[in-house]
Amino acid sequence: MMGLPLLIAISCLFSLTPFVNALSNSVGRPMVVHESRRDIPPQYSHEGSPHPETLVSLRIGLTSSNRDGLEKALFDVSVPGSPSYGKHLSMEEIKNYTSASPQSVTAVTEWLAEYGISDAQLETIKVHDYLTFSAPVSAANHLFDTEFHSFVHAPTGKRAIRTSQYSIPEDLRSHISIVYPTTSFDLSAPRGLSVSYSNVKRAADGEPLEVESPKVDPSCANTITPQCLQDLYDIPKTPASQPSNRIAVPGLIEYWAQYADLQAFLERLRPDMPPNTTFSVETIDGGTNPQGPDKAGYEANLDIQYTVGLATGVNTTFISVGPNNTDGAAIGFLDVVEYLYNMTDPPQVMSMSYGYEEWWLTPSLARHICDVYMALGARGTSLVFGSGDGGVSGAERNDTCTEFLPAFPGGCPYITSVGGTYSINPELSTNFSSGGFSGYFPRPSYQEQAVAPFLENLGDTYKGLYNASGRGFPDIAAQSHNVEIITGGETVYINGTSCSGPIFASMVALVNDRLIAAGRPPLGFLNPFLYKNTQIFTDITDGLPNAGCGTGGFNATVGWDPITGLGTPNFRKMLEAVGLPSDN
Ligand SMILES: *[C@@H]1O[C@H](CO)[C@@H](O)[C@H](O)[C@H]1NC(C)=O
Ligand SMILES: *[C@@H]1O[C@H](CO)[C@@H](O)[C@H](O)[C@H]1NC(C)=O
Ligand SMILES: *[C@@H]1O[C@H](CO)[C@@H](O)[C@H](O)[C@H]1NC(C)=O
Ligand SMILES: *[C@@H]1O[C@H](CO)[C@@H](O)[C@H](O)[C@H]1NC(C)=O
Ligand SMILES: *[C@@H]1O[C@H](CO)[C@@H](O)[C@H](O)[C@H]1NC(C)=O
Ligand SMILES: *[C@@H]1O[C@H](CO)[C@@H](O)[C@H](O)[C@H]1NC(C)=O
Ligand SMILES: *[C@@H]1O[C@H](CO)[C@@H](O)[C@H](O)[C@H]1NC(C)=O
Ligand SMILES: *[C@@H]1O[C@H](CO)[C@@H](O)[C@H](O)[C@H]1NC(C)=O
Ligand SMILES: *[C@@H]1O[C@H](CO)[C@@H](O)[C@H](O)[C@H]1NC(C)=O
Ligand SMILES: *[C@@H]1O[C@H](CO)[C@@H](O)[C@H](O)[C@H]1NC(C)=O
Repeated sequence: MMGLPLLIAISCLFSLTPFVNALSNSVGRPMVVHESRRDIPPQYSHEGSPHPETLVSLRIGLTSSNRDGLEKALFDVSVPGSPSYGKHLSMEEIKNYTSASPQSVTAVTEWLAEYGISDAQLETIKVHDYLTFSAPVSAANHLFDTEFHSFVHAPTGKRAIRTSQYSIPEDLRSHISIVYPTTSFDLSAPRGLSVSYSNVKRAADGEPLEVESPKVDPSCANTITPQCLQDLYDIPKTPASQPSNRIAVPGLIEYWAQYADLQAFLERLRPDMPPNTTFSVETIDGGTNPQGPDKAGYEANLDIQYTVGLATGVNTTFISVGPNNTDGAAIGFLDVVEYLYNMTDPPQVMSMSYGYEEWWLTPSLARHICDVYMALGARGTSLVFGSGDGGVSGAERNDTCTEFLPAFPGGCPYITSVGGTYSINPELSTNFSSGGFSGYFPRPSYQEQAVAPFLENLGDTYKGLYNASGRGFPDIAAQSHNVEIITGGETVYINGTSCSGPIFASMVALVNDRLIAAGRPPLGFLNPFLYKNTQIFTDITDGLPNAGCGTGGFNATVGWDPITGLGTPNFRKMLEAVGLPSDN
């Protein structure tokens, strides 16, 4: 809930203040820059200054009272062999770590009161606590020692009042994690990750099509179907049996999943499944669920067809996220996770094929979102994302970059990032598979042993283009070329790591089904388990490098690499790793 607008009298007071002191505001608190961005995201342009009395709605995210405690708790429940392994946390237990301390609430409230803002609302229903209020631009400029400007987003004509940097009082640094939307741009065009699709089935260029695999039909070299993946990764066709087992598939930016396309897909490619197998839909932020060939979104259809059509019998929920999000910059990225977090029984797996360039988000916003992933992971949900489709240049191909651009959320250590492969015998790395090292998040301990040898072999190559102490991604990989779907009634073939994410998410859901049947908890946050059980994966050691930023990119190598991670998964080996029989 937003607070009431400020009184006009106060905005007049501020508009009479002709200058903004760079070091301290009028009340005399020393100020420090809290967030700044070097550049505005593509397609936005500066439009001038808004009228000083234009109201802006602002949210101050308060620092968690014990963020590090939650991280420790997450690892305790996610590291196999730890005494608390699998004992996922309740919402109340998590809130105990993430809620703001009373001192933070008081300190920030007092500061706002110095500016006549006495109606800020304390919002405590989300993972983090917030103080929310509206203020005239002139007051907000003064409060945050900044200058808000108007920006316009060319493709949509949407306008936004934002700033390139803002400050907060130095003595409140430990109490405030983020203020948004400030420096955060509503990226109304986040990427569905599928780079490209075609309705013409083509042989892959110059690939070893003739190499036969003992278990996979040769046609799989040209077209990937559920059957190909079942054979390649040993994924069972047996229906899941546990009604409580669920996958959530968020759909952003008006990509809608179609019931008719799913049915046609199942009839054609899963004739063994009841053709009326469907998905349920939930909507948030004013989301909708329109049906009809002209409403078909290839991203949403891909995500739904390779969860429902591969995680046989697992309840799948499409979450249609509308435009009315409250997460400032993140077009529902944050809202959808908050929504799942708030469920009595959250889904055990979330598969999401959307991403950004990491630099589009400020470090504070990236950390804020990543901490919400941490909270959902602590509740026992596995978060699976495609790694991105721009190779070393991020979510999308970029040839002009002068440093590698990591993708978000691949760099967040609490999610599992899935890169892309093609071909079947052997599987090879593909050029668009995003990978590299986060510029914002340090390398988590669970991957130290896997990543160190790669960096050692790399030596000084690309020195200065990436941050060698950053979190390496992707974690693993899966097929990502010529993946057959039906959209708007037509068969099309998709290339992109958008394919890889749902494939792996489905395998995790099928493992969870057997764990739940055995009375055990679901896998939850996966990475400590994956990096402790590298034998689950077929190491990808050859293929195309993930070129970008005018460089050749990284190569797939023996062991972990920043293009295919630990390799491609095998379902039977996953079952063995969790101590379940793998013979059915
Ligand atoms: C909340 O945290 C405190 C210590 O930080 C602990 O003593 C208490 O048991 C926790 N309560 C819950 C419900 O987890
Ligand atoms: C997808 O990749 C294959 C190579 O495996 C290529 O032949 C095909 O043209 C690509 N499809 C699109 C739509 O780019
Ligand atoms: C799906 O979940 C609903 C409730 O969430 C449950 O009633 C239903 O039985 C489940 N369906 C299957 C096929 O497991
Ligand atoms: C699908 O069809 C079968 C047989 O016609 C029916 O028993 C079943 O209830 C249907 N399932 C759904 C989800 O509609
Ligand atoms: C979303 O916002 C638009 C414009 O502000 C409004 O017209 C619409 O009613 C909202 N939708 C919902 C479901 O809240
Ligand atoms: C969480 O769910 C409860 C009902 O279960 C609802 O009242 C509340 O508004 C929800 N909070 C959020 C942040 O969605
Ligand atoms: C490509 O990279 C350059 C340099 O980092 C950046 O300025 C530009 O905005 C990027 N383009 C896109 C589409 O991200
Ligand atoms: C990958 O290779 C294909 C074919 O050579 C090319 O069209 C595409 O732009 C490349 N993608 C990236 C991200 O480099
Ligand atoms: C590299 O990453 C580390 C950890 O995330 C960070 O502390 C450091 O500032 C980064 N260095 C550069 C040059 O960005
Ligand atoms: C990738 O492999 C090619 C061919 O072996 C080699 O020329 C290139 O230097 C390698 N690149 C890196 C970054 O290791």
